[in-house]
Amino acid sequence: MEELVKGKLLFGLGLLAAILPLPVIAAENVHLSIDASKSGPRIDRNLFGQFAENLGHGLYEGIWVGPDSPIPNTRGIRKDVVAALKELKVPNVRWPGGCFADQYHWRKGIGPRDQRPATVNLAWGDVIDTNAFGTDEFMDFIQQIGSTPYVSINLGSGTPQEAAEWLEYMTAAAPTALGKERAANGRPEPYKVGFLGIGNESWDCGGAMTPEYYVSLMKVYSRFVLNMNPAQRGQDQMLKIAVGPGTPDTEWTEAVMKAWKKHTWAWDINGVSLHWYTVPNGWPPSTKSEKFGLDDYAKSLKSTLFMDDFLRKQEAVMDKYDPEKKVTLSVDEWGAWHAPLTGSNPAFLVQQNSIRDAILASLNLNIFARHADRVRMANIAQMINVLQAMILTDKEKFVLTPTYYLFKMYVPFQDATFIPVTFDAGAYTHGGVFLPRVDAIAAKTADGKLLIEITNLDAETSVAIDVDLIGITAKSATAETLTAPTVDSINTFEAPSTVVPKTAAVKLQGGKLSLTVEPRSVTVVSIEQ
Ligand code: AHR
Repeated sequence: MEELVKGKLLFGLGLLAAILPLPVIAAENVHLSIDASKSGPRIDRNLFGQFAENLGHGLYEGIWVGPDSPIPNTRGIRKDVVAALKELKVPNVRWPGGCFADQYHWRKGIGPRDQRPATVNLAWGDVIDTNAFGTDEFMDFIQQIGSTPYVSINLGSGTPQEAAEWLEYMTAAAPTALGKERAANGRPEPYKVGFLGIGNESWDCGGAMTPEYYVSLMKVYSRFVLNMNPAQRGQDQMLKIAVGPGTPDTEWTEAVMKAWKKHTWAWDINGVSLHWYTVPNGWPPSTKSEKFGLDDYAKSLKSTLFMDDFLRKQEAVMDKYDPEKKVTLSVDEWGAWHAPLTGSNPAFLVQQNSIRDAILASLNLNIFARHADRVRMANIAQMINVLQAMILTDKEKFVLTPTYYLFKMYVPFQDATFIPVTFDAGAYTHGGVFLPRVDAIAAKTADGKLLIEITNLDAETSVAIDVDLIGITAKSATAETLTAPTVDSINTFEAPSTVVPKTAAVKLQGGKLSLTVEPRSVTVVSIEQ
């Protein structure tokens, strides 16, 4: 009887928890040990890349409003968006897709905007595309936010010649016809193209190819689609990313890596992509992005943690052909893919963004950091107004999401050196879903700071953390934490500061650091020595 009453009570509390801020239950303890003298690989800044596809309001409205818009802009590009993105030190932006890339013909997006043809975006909702945001506008955006272009070429419906000419238009320094055309369009100096995507999901929307067919095309594109910028001939060379897997099986990676093993002077690739989204209930995505409860929260985090297994499987194949880890595994699409928001165009992939999404982003970034010897590039999908976005806009309205703030907290990790952390994560269980209670990574920055990131996955309980700091004489420590009243807390245009980072208390004493991390939170501690 007592059990029944307790059961009813817990059930009642569960219901209440879905509506009310969750009560903070007594703290659990987790002990971390960090030896700062041990170091791992560099956490490449390119792991914090973004993805901006021509999809819904990702580019149009999200970035591009046009020079005549009443929304403040610089040459047509939103000023509020640029200012916010500069803070993230976005290392690279993947464009124009995604599935859109294999249907994009770049010539339609250059020259005087009033003379560009209208086309139909057949990849995303059959909407009219004015082509106003083309190559030069994208490059202007990249320059305004201080990033590096990651251009995906059209392998599905284009030709090697079309792609080669696009590269010539972007990168020719000599007065070739295409270089002159670029100059006439306002840009005499060649652009730098940091990364080249050789197709996108060629096993599916990119042309439903077999691995063998793709590999043949990949070699041809790699051979002939060349960067002509003299400043990119040495260290700063353009890296070529081949299409990789989107499911955990390894057939595709085998085919690409087997071919790479035998590559000659004539062609090469520097990376293989991998796409994996958090879709806890399978396709089509059905988790809600607002007004959801603990069940969805727990399932989403569980699904995210699968990324680790997925990477391991692909890495095993890559290691077989490339034990020196020359070829990068580039997770150039990742993030939470929820059901479209009610009332939105389902083809525009519009969703809200909650503290749950920030937490699952931290889990993904931590997994990437642990695989940093092979995973040296990643792009969250997507930057603005699409899927797990940094920023949401509605005409002149603009709001930064919890995922934006999470990325901001991780900026110091860009190019820092990974330091192993030893800990027993404990467990958090909800509705039969078992999760680690805590996740953590550490890194050392170029200027000698030790960074510790701690994610408390437990939605109900705060955790008392104590850290043994070995190999470092810590002088001072500061911490910032991101949490929210409920797992589905979001920022809105009307209430933009519900989920924002705040300062957290930390104690340093005798080589030990201690702090309490709140339920459903991400905390970054910075230690000066
Ligand atoms: O990010 C949305 C879409 O997801 C991309 O266009 C495609 O590559 C993937 O399937």
